[in-house]
Amino acid sequence: MGNSGKSEIRFEGTGRGKKSIDGCSVEFYLNLKPGPEPDMICDNVSAGTSVLELGCGVGRVTNALVERGLVVTAVDNSQDMLAHVQGANSVCSDIESLNLNKKFDAVMLGSFLINSPKETIRHDLLKTCRKHLKNDGVLFVECHPFALLETISIGDKGERNGVHTYIDSVERNGNTLSLQLRWEIDGETWTQSFETEILNGRKLQEGLERCDLKFVRWLDDSKSWLLANVEGAVNKSINGGNSFQCRRQ
Ligand SMILES: C[S@@+](CC[C@H](N)C(=O)[O-])C[C@H]1O[C@@H](n2cnc3c(N)ncnc32)[C@H](O)[C@@H]1O
Repeated sequence: MGNSGKSEIRFEGTGRGKKSIDGCSVEFYLNLKPGPEPDMICDNVSAGTSVLELGCGVGRVTNALVERGLVVTAVDNSQDMLAHVQGANSVCSDIESLNLNKKFDAVMLGSFLINSPKETIRHDLLKTCRKHLKNDGVLFVECHPFALLETISIGDKGERNGVHTYIDSVERNGNTLSLQLRWEIDGETWTQSFETEILNGRKLQEGLERCDLKFVRWLDDSKSWLLANVEGAVNKSINGGNSFQCRRQ
C-alpha cells in the first residue's frame, strides 16, 4: 500500500496529543470543526462519487464527506490520525509514494501540502494526484493564498469557531517563509513551526501542467482552493451550477 514515514515533509509542533511527522497534534485536530470544505466539494461532484483524500488527518473533512454520501478513501502517514477516521477506507502511506492501482472521480490534496518548499516534493504530490485521477475526474488542491503569504505578519489573527490564532514568527528567505503559528482553544495552546513556499498562479499552473493537469478555477474568494482537471478532458463532473445531487448539510 505504499510507505509511510519516509516523507520529507517534516515539521514540529507543541501541545497536548500525539504528533504527525509534519508536527500536527491529533488532539488539536479533533477539536476543529469540518468548516466549509465538505459543502464546497459536494457542490462540485455528484452523490456516490469516489473521492481520494490525501493528508486526511483525523477525518475532520473525511467524516463529513462520508455523511454526505461520498465514497472516500482517506490517506495519511500518521496511524494516530487515521485511527479517528470513520466510514472511509483508510490507508497509512506517504502521499508521495502512494500507489493504490485505482482511479477516483475526485482527488483532494488539502492541508497546504502543495506549498512545500521543495519543488521535487510538490511534483511528487501532484504526480500522485494525477496517477489516481480518472481522465474525466476533478482535482481539489488547497494552497496558502499568494496574497496572504506576501503580506503575512506576526500578531493576533483573531478567533474563529472557538480557535484563537496567533502568528508568533515570520522569516522570509526568497520565496520561502518559515512560520510559527499558535492556536488557543479554551485556554489550551498548540503550536506548529513549518516552511511554506509563496506560489503565484503561474507557478501553480506550471506545476499542474507538468503532471498533465490543468487549472480550471478558484473555488473561494480567498483563492485557497483550486479546481483542476486532466489536460484535454471534457469533465462530466465539473459543476455547471445546477444538476448536482450530493447532499449539502
Ligand atoms: C494540517 S493536518 C490537516 C488534516 C486534514 N486535511 C484537515 O484539514 O483536518 C495535515 C495532515 O497531513 C498529513 N501529512 C502530511 N504530510 C504527509 C505526507 N507526505 N503523506 C501523508 N500524509 C501527510 C499529516 O499526518 C496530517 O495528518
